[in-house]
Amino acid sequence: MSFNIAIDGPAGAGKSTIARKAASRLSFLYVDTGAMYRAIALGLLERKTDLRDSEMLKEALEEISVTIGYDSQGRQQVFLNGEDVSSRIRDEEVGKMASASSALAQVREKLTALQRGLAKKENVLMDGRDIGTVILPGAQLKIYLTAGVEVRARRRHQELTAKNIPCSLEEIEKDIRERDERDRNRPVAPLKQAEDAVRIDTSDMTIEEVTDRIVELARKRMGEERA
Ligand code: DC
Repeated sequence: MSFNIAIDGPAGAGKSTIARKAASRLSFLYVDTGAMYRAIALGLLERKTDLRDSEMLKEALEEISVTIGYDSQGRQQVFLNGEDVSSRIRDEEVGKMASASSALAQVREKLTALQRGLAKKENVLMDGRDIGTVILPGAQLKIYLTAGVEVRARRRHQELTAKNIPCSLEEIEKDIRERDERDRNRPVAPLKQAEDAVRIDTSDMTIEEVTDRIVELARKRMGEERA
């Protein structure tokens, strides 16, 4: 049986960086589910889909196919109808559309089977918003990663500034607050901590400290499973 680790939490808690590192140290497959939602969002943007028009949405979703693969360095790639869109999905516009469209049940249904199928076959470390609560409720280890809004905004600001992308800290903080609000209050698969998840507040921790903690928890849990 495969061993599954679910990591959930809000944007900017450091999930993807930490999850990638922890998965590599554990030799687990890293699955970034946010990238899948972003790929669907890009497909919807390309088709100029009006999310309020459920017939139009249904037709667009029928035409959209999302798959993932891994490059030679083990980095996840995401494909939209066969095209590698791994960098294009990082645009702010796509992020906004992903936040809006991921609230819709039709969109979530499209990815559920893909995510569960991967976890069934392989030892995966999967990150997202509803992995421990909806997608893999039986995951052997669940982590809820969080950090204060100000800290998350500062991190995002540093990330964009390092890439020479002009941005304002206040705007970013406002954006994060709005996205949190939407992700937490949507009726379908809202972001929330699973009852049996270990909560880690990364506000005052380094990436290495958080990664070490997750790897340690996973090794302990795997040892207990074997015993
Ligand atoms: O983690 P991210 O920023 O790449 O995620 C993009 C959007 O997708 C974000 O608004 C939340 C949503 N998402 C989701 O609803 N469920 C997941 N399992 C992963 C992401």
